[in-house]
This record gives sequence, C-alpha cells and structure tokens, in this order.
Amino acid sequence: MTPQDRELIARLSAERAGLRVDPDKTYLLENRLAPVARREGFASVHDLVAAIRDRDDDRLAWRAVEAMSPTETAFFREPRTFECVVSEVLPDLAMRRPGGTIRLWSAACGGGQEVYSLAMALSESSPPGVTVEVFASDLCERRLEKAQAGVYSQFEVQRGLSARRLVTHFESLDDGFVLSPRVRQMVRWRRVNLMEDLSRLGQFDLVLCRGVLGHLLEDARARVLSGLERTLAPGGRLVLGAGESAPGLSPVADRPGFHGRASAARAAA
Ligand SMILES: C[S@@+](CC[C@H](N)C(=O)[O-])C[C@H]1O[C@@H](n2cnc3c(N)ncnc32)[C@H](O)[C@@H]1O
Repeated sequence: MTPQDRELIARLSAERAGLRVDPDKTYLLENRLAPVARREGFASVHDLVAAIRDRDDDRLAWRAVEAMSPTETAFFREPRTFECVVSEVLPDLAMRRPGGTIRLWSAACGGGQEVYSLAMALSESSPPGVTVEVFASDLCERRLEKAQAGVYSQFEVQRGLSARRLVTHFESLDDGFVLSPRVRQMVRWRRVNLMEDLSRLGQFDLVLCRGVLGHLLEDARARVLSGLERTLAPGGRLVLGAGESAPGLSPVADRPGFHGRASAARAAA
C-alpha cells in the first residue's frame, strides 16, 4: 500500500463509521484488507484501494471500512454484566411494567456472541409476565450474516461458553457448532451504522454498546453516545464495555458497564 492508499482508507473509515484508523499502521491495514482484496478478486490490497479510488465504488469502500472495524468479542464477555441483566435489571423492569414489553438492543453485535449470550441467558430465565424483544445490529454485513447463521468454530465456543451451555444450546457440526433455532429466533437483526440517525429504531430499555466507543474518533464518540442516549426509554440503561465511559451518563453502582442518566437513576432509586 502506498501512503496515499493508507490515507484514503483512514479517511473513509473516519467519514463513514467514525473509526479511528492510524494510516501509519501499515501492517494492520494490509492485514485487515488482504482478505477483502482476495474475496473481491484483486491481486493486491493496492489494487483494491485503487479500484475504490478510481471507480468511486461505494460498495467496495464499505467493504474496506467494515474490515477496518474492531472484531474482538466472546460469549458472556464480562459475565457479571449478563448476570445483572437477567437477575436484577429485567425482573425489576418486569415488576414496574407488568404485561408490558421490554426492549433490548445489542448495538454493535459483531459476530453475535454478545446478543446470543443475552438470548441464551433469557431462554434459561426470563422474567414472567412481560414480553422481551431482543434486537441486534452492526455496521458490518459479513458479521451480521455470520451472526444470523449462528455457526461458531471450536475456538469461538471456547471463548466464554460453559460446557453446560454448549450442550444445552448448540448442536455439533463437522467443523464447529450451530446454535439452536430456538435461541436464534429470539433475535431480530438489522444493519445499523451508529453514526446515523438512530431515532427510527424506537426506544430501548437496555442498550449494549461494548467494544466500539474506544475505537471511534472523539467527535464520532460524542455523536454516537448522544444518539444512543436518545434511544433510551425513560429509566433505560446503556451498557458499555470495561473501561469505557460516557460523559453525561453516570455509572450505576455494582453493575459493571451500566450507565444511566443521573436523573433517571435517582427516579428509579
Ligand atoms: C469489538 S466488536 C464488539 C462486539 C460486541 N459488542 C462485544 O463486545 O463482544 C465491535 C463491533 O462494532 C462494530 N462497529 C464499529 N463501528 C461501528 C459503527 N459506526 N456502527 C455500528 N457498528 C460499528 C464493528 O463492526 C464490530 O462488530
């Protein structure tokens, strides 16, 4: 890749997804973009970037941006967060809203491990007397496709899944495992770029947005946070990853990752 190639990818990633990509990290860029170049039939990453530039190819540009977004994930990452959702937050919401609907959103679901952790935990212990709707979205179409298929490798299931849950919720394939249709069908999917207007999605009682904010440029982070905050129903909670913070929202005591509006937290207390 030439320095111009790297600058172009960094600029596209920032403009389209708010992602912070350091154009000096040649190895990282090459590494992330090489599979895209291969899949799209280019002989090199440089040829891929040249096509994005010279043909002004929107689809290819998106494939490159998606490849630059972070991928780190696992089942039940930060397990205490899932325990809090299922054993404290949902029963509490169910008590306040008998007969109502509780809406949960995994706002950058990656390959599905996060939202399926939620769905598995819910299928094991769902609060009585309410309907729970589970939504999942991501910027990256390939990750969404993978998530919807619910197929994971041995390596992937080893990351965070207990043997009990593997046996209960998955069937083995020749080269991996597939999640039961029952759990897969609990989730509704959509491609969403968090940089866009999120109001069309409605309001949620719980939004998980973990592992994204730290990879965004400062302006983008503020924009995404205010968009997410506007999707929170009154008393709704935003759940961030370990070490992530949200200016304007207060962390909730004893619930790792949970943030809420200070006024809502006071009202709920
Ligand atoms: C590190 S993964 C985290 C997955 C999951 N939330 C977890 O914590 O296990 C980050 C995800 O954020 C998505 N992402 C990055 N920028 C985004 C944006 N602007 N809009 C929506 N999703 C984005 C990526 O595609 C990726 O799947």
